[in-house]
Parts: sequence; structure tokens; C-alpha cells
Amino acid sequence: MNHWPDCLKNRRCIIDFIISFLPKGGRLNILSSKWKNLRRPPCIRGWIPWIGAGFEFGKTPLEFIEKARIKYGPVFTVIVMGTRMTFVTEEEGINVFLKSKEINFELAVQNPVYHTASIAKNIFLKLHEKLYITVKGKMGIFNLYKFTGQLTEELQEQLQNLGTHGTTDLNKFMRHLLYPVTVNILFKKGLFPTDERKIREFHQHFQAYDEGFEYGSQLPECLLRNWSKSKKWLLALFEKNIPDIKTHKSAKENYPTVMQAVLDLLEMEANEQKSPNYGLLLLWASLSNTVPVAFWTFAFVLSHPNIHRTIMEGISSVFGTAGKDKIKVSEDDLKKLPLIKWCILETIRLRAPGVIARKVLKPVKILDYTVPSGDLLMLSPFWLHRNPKYFPEPDLFKPERWKEANLEKHAFLDCFMAFGSGKYQCPGRWLALLEIQICIILIFYYYDCSLLDPLPKQSSLHLVGVQQPEGRCRIQFKQRK
Ligand code: HEM
Repeated sequence: MNHWPDCLKNRRCIIDFIISFLPKGGRLNILSSKWKNLRRPPCIRGWIPWIGAGFEFGKTPLEFIEKARIKYGPVFTVIVMGTRMTFVTEEEGINVFLKSKEINFELAVQNPVYHTASIAKNIFLKLHEKLYITVKGKMGIFNLYKFTGQLTEELQEQLQNLGTHGTTDLNKFMRHLLYPVTVNILFKKGLFPTDERKIREFHQHFQAYDEGFEYGSQLPECLLRNWSKSKKWLLALFEKNIPDIKTHKSAKENYPTVMQAVLDLLEMEANEQKSPNYGLLLLWASLSNTVPVAFWTFAFVLSHPNIHRTIMEGISSVFGTAGKDKIKVSEDDLKKLPLIKWCILETIRLRAPGVIARKVLKPVKILDYTVPSGDLLMLSPFWLHRNPKYFPEPDLFKPERWKEANLEKHAFLDCFMAFGSGKYQCPGRWLALLEIQICIILIFYYYDCSLLDPLPKQSSLHLVGVQQPEGRCRIQFKQRK
């Protein structure tokens, strides 16, 4: 039986209660204020030690976060599988997340990187900054023009296999288009298999790896047999192809691919043996978000007839009315079609990653709370983007809100955080936008498309990365005359 009065049921109250009986002296005031400073955010710890709130959290993690915010306020801690995760949902906490020197990206991701790509923590920490700078430079805004021609060619090559008309599952269609294009561009032209059986194998293993990524990032591999099998298959694929990627020279331009630059750096740092592992990380980072974003953008556009019509008119005015011949897409063409970019960004806003994480190095104050060192500080771009304070009518697909963003200066809307933030913001963001822009232009240039199913629900199962569609969504396509 618990005989404490209600107000004393948490530790902080008990301590204040005891202090209130002691004589008022300088030392005790200091003691009291020290405890006040160390007041922790409300904590959801579940009933089972170590597992904590793991079961409830794991069922529908996105909904769990929102319900906890409503119940416990803007800062709260959840204990899951022995990990303390403190969520910040309003200005004060977000500011700490964005600006504090006491929080760290690398220490937050070193464990997931170890589990998902078998890169030891010491190697990851030693190489991360150099690798990030390399990758960011290769895909930076000033190097982007180097990808435009290649992306257009690769996409057109893939679209030629589509035939004149048909019906297909939109998600499958996007995978069949973007897996080969992305792999051939970032790793080596021709790396993606062309043999039917091998293509099927690639799809099967990448999807299994991607779907299990979240569990894989936390649990021992021995508990995830199928996921582990797919991880090994992908690592073996890179192991086999690394020598080829390394020596391959592009026929047109002597410009090393992103993976070639990574391999050069690994060689310089005497860590070549980890090449397949970094290959796997780059593969996952480049496909896991871009493919669902391309899917959702198409689905949103096709389910908004006015937007669809305006985009079709724009494409016809820039490239001509009917699409059979190959076209070239230039930077200038893209600038003439801003609505397409707004649609992609609005889609990313609505389907943003469930969380991004940082490690707390030294205790940080947020509101009246002190978040202890060792906690993971979590921010949910998904929920942040649904806050009407930052995005009016947040649930509506309103591409025109992006008119306000200074995209010419490469700035997104305030509080848009789908690509993370700070020093290690997503280095592939400009390439992802470019790839999806060209993809939309080419599909709509060649085909009349329509949705055969309503916009599917988004799955609330995943926190890492953008939301996946739940259930089928077919499109009908017919070559334009
Ligand atoms: C719409 C598509 C994409 C979204 C929404 C997205 C989102 C993100 C997010 C949220 C992060 C973590 C940043 C942080 O915590 O601050 C990240 C990291 C990363 N992304 Fe992306 N990304 C996308 C596309 C891409 C593409 C196409 C590539 C590569 C070609 C890429 C490569 C990476 C890499 C390498 C990192 C890790 C950076 C590091 O280790 O410091 N991403 N991305």
C-alpha cells in the first residue's frame, strides 16, 4: 500500500517535502535549488524493467509520441529497451536541439550504424566527419548540375521498358524506376543488374533490409534471421563489385561517382576493408526516403486534378505537347516549373521522418527541466510539420505555401526539418529533390497518368525515415500522342 499523500508520489515532491521541514539556511537553499535545477522531464517507463514502454511504443510509435505530448506536455522522456529518449516538441526544446553545443549527432547514431552496417564505433567516429564532407561536397548545390544530364538519361532509359500503356502498382513502379537510376549514378553506371532474376533478388533483399532497418538498428542480428540474410546479401553484392566500382571510369566525363570518392577516402585512411559496409549505408540512405517521397508526390499530384493540370500545362509549355522523343532537361527548364518542386517539398513536409536524434553530452535545461547526459534527445519532424503554429492548415496538401520559401537561396520554410538540421543535415537533399523533379517531368511528358485507387493511408509503424504507404495504390498510364 502506498501511504504517501498524492502530491508526494514522485521523488521530486518527497525531496521538497523533506527540505520544507529543515531550517532555512543558505546551504539548504542551495540544496533545494540544486534539486529544482535537476528536475527531470516526466518519464514514461512502462511496467517491465529495461523493456520500459517498449511494447506500447513499438506498436504505433508516431501516435505514441503525440498522445504523450498531449498528456505530459512539451518535453517528456520515454524508456524503451533500456534507452532513455527525451522528446522535445516546442520552441524551447527545439532550440536546444538545434543550437546547444552539448548535444551530438555522431554519438546518437553510432549504435544504429554498428548494428545495421557492422561498422565498429571507433571506426565510425574516426571517419565520420571526413566522409560527410566528401559526400556533401559531391552532392552539394554547386555540383548538382553534373547530375542533371545523367539523371535524365538514366530515367529515360528505364522508362523505355515501360511500354505504351498499362496498369501498375505505383510503389512498385517507383522502385523499378529509382533503384537502378540511383545505383547507377551514385555507384557506377551499369552496376544495377539487368537480368530479371537478379533484379528480383535485389528488390527482395533491399526491401527486407529497409523494412527491418529499425529493428535491425536496435536488436542483435541473431534475433532477425531474414533481415540478417538480406543484409549479408547486400554486403556480398558490394564486396564483389567494389574493385569494379573503384576502377570504372565514366565514358563521358572523368568525374568520380559519390561511391568512388568514398572509396578513395577509405583507402587513404587505411580502412578499405569497410568499403562494402559504407556502400550499404550509402545505398540505404539514397533509396529509403527518396522512393517513398517520389511515390507520395505522384499520388498527391494525381489526386489533386487542378495541380495535376497545371503541372501538365507547364511541362507542355517547356518541352512541347507530346512526348515520344528523348528530351534534355536543363537547370533553366527546372526553374520554369516551380510548382513541381513545391509539390515535392509539400509532400516531404507531410510525410517527414518520424524522428531525428542527438545524444546529450552534458545536462541541458529545457523549460523547468534538466535533461541528463546520456539521454537521446528526439525531435519529430513529422509532428513539428503538423503544428499549426508553424504550418497553417498543417494537414492540407498546399504546395503554394512554398512560394514563401527562398528556394533561390536554397532555404526551406522555417521549421521544415525533414532533412534534419545543423552540421550533419542530409547531404543528399538537393540530389533527392533533383531526381524526383526530373522523374515527374519525364513521366508526365511521356504518359497520361491517373490513379485507380484512393490515396492510401500512411503506415504509422516506422519512426526512422519518411512514412511508407499502407495498402495498394495503382496507376494507369498511357503514352501521350
Ligand atoms: C527525400 C529524401 C531524403 C530525406 C527525407 C532524407 C532525410 C535525411 C535525414 C533526416 C537525415 C538525418 C539528418 C539529421 O539527423 O540531422 C539524413 C542523413 C543522411 N542522408 Fe538523407 N534524406 C533523403 C535523401 C537522401 C539521398 C538521396 C541521399 C544520398 C544520395 C542521402 C544521404 C544521406 C546521408 C549519407 C546521411 C547521413 C549523414 C551523416 O552521416 O552525417 N539522403 N537524411
